[in-house]
Amino acid sequence: MSTFSAPKGTYDLIPPGSADFLAVREAISAPLRRAGYGYVETPGFEQVELFARGVGASTDIVTKEMYTLTTKGGDELALRPEGTASVLRAALQANLHRGALPVKLWYSGSYYRYERPQAGRYRHFSQVGAEALGAEDPALDAELVILAADAYRSLGLRDVRLLLNSLGDAECRPVYRAALQEFLRGLDLDEETRARVEINPLRVLDDKREAVQRQLAGAPLMRDHLCEACKGYHEQVRDLLTAADVAFEDDPRLVRGLDYYTRTTFEFVHDGLGAQSAVGGGGRYDGLSEMIGGPALPSVGWALGVDRTVLALRAEGVTPELPAHTEVFAVPAGEEARRTLFGLLTVLRRSGVAADFAYGGKGMKNGMKSANRSGARLALVLGERDLAEGVVQVKDLASGEQEAVPLASAVERVRAKLS
Ligand code: HAM
Repeated sequence: MSTFSAPKGTYDLIPPGSADFLAVREAISAPLRRAGYGYVETPGFEQVELFARGVGASTDIVTKEMYTLTTKGGDELALRPEGTASVLRAALQANLHRGALPVKLWYSGSYYRYERPQAGRYRHFSQVGAEALGAEDPALDAELVILAADAYRSLGLRDVRLLLNSLGDAECRPVYRAALQEFLRGLDLDEETRARVEINPLRVLDDKREAVQRQLAGAPLMRDHLCEACKGYHEQVRDLLTAADVAFEDDPRLVRGLDYYTRTTFEFVHDGLGAQSAVGGGGRYDGLSEMIGGPALPSVGWALGVDRTVLALRAEGVTPELPAHTEVFAVPAGEEARRTLFGLLTVLRRSGVAADFAYGGKGMKNGMKSANRSGARLALVLGERDLAEGVVQVKDLASGEQEAVPLASAVERVRAKLS
């Protein structure tokens, strides 16, 4: 062991467990790629101000959880705590919004939040996200929710629930906010929470403390304050989800930890994860572009947490289908056989076969041990006598059956056996 270990709240992905993370990223991004989403990648840090204005200056993410730094040149930067503000910034900077709308983008990467670490909550974590910019259309909200639900389904997860709400728009939300504030001001709350009532009253609904929750029983709900346009929009989203066979639960108290949401908001939760049950979340953010200095650009998106999705798979005992692991393992005996077999290995790999080799000159017995441990289906064994006869032994590692195949047709034969 070295004297160093990964920083608090972080962990390394190491084989074989790391394969689950790749499988999850692949399962989430495949439906997006099929649905016309283009890949976007932005820097790991941005100006602090982008997140302060975008995510919200009074949110926990901005006030408590951002990793900020001042560069030698005096710039105030923050490691990105989320992807939406950055992706929108990048799209506006590249003038994508001047072309055909909606602009559909997906991304995958690392995010950083200085949170109190616990199971499922880390200071460095990984998300795959999708954003559809520049269209106000309930079918677009539905498309994104369906793609996320399909991704979870394709992974074999059964216990993911979808919670759905509408947070209203610039017309009806201020009226609701005032009504909620009025109600909250009459409660017995500590000083910090009373301050939150004035700055960000919707967040109070998300207070997990029993003493607060008890008092919230009669709180006014956004649902009862939606304007006609928001009500109609939400009904259409619900109908489209139902038609697509995506089950959801109306959760009129669902508020999110980021301030940019309007109308459709949702969260995917998994009950096998304890306190950190949200495996993914998102919603519509019609005002965010203007908040960061852009034109009006109604948009919707989500991000799914890769770490928590992997935890959910493990909680359900599901093993995701692994990306190509070793199919063929080559074991040489002797120097010349070694050179020949290494050449064959390279040709096999170039033809698309996942293959590995007994490196380190360990001898036949240890080489076969490595072959068995690798999980490969076939071993290729080449000894002095085989070499003299111009053949290679192709051994099925499960059945033990072995056949001598001419070296010249070995690639073809191996591929036929694997298919
Ligand atoms: P979020 O709900 O903050 O939304 O994060 C999305 C997902 O990232 C969460 O559901 C969770 O699975 C994962 N996640 C968040 N924080 C942590 C953490 N500390 N440790 C492990 N996993 C975590 C957003 O980030 C929005 N940008 C989503 C969005 C996209 N909305 C519209 N477009």
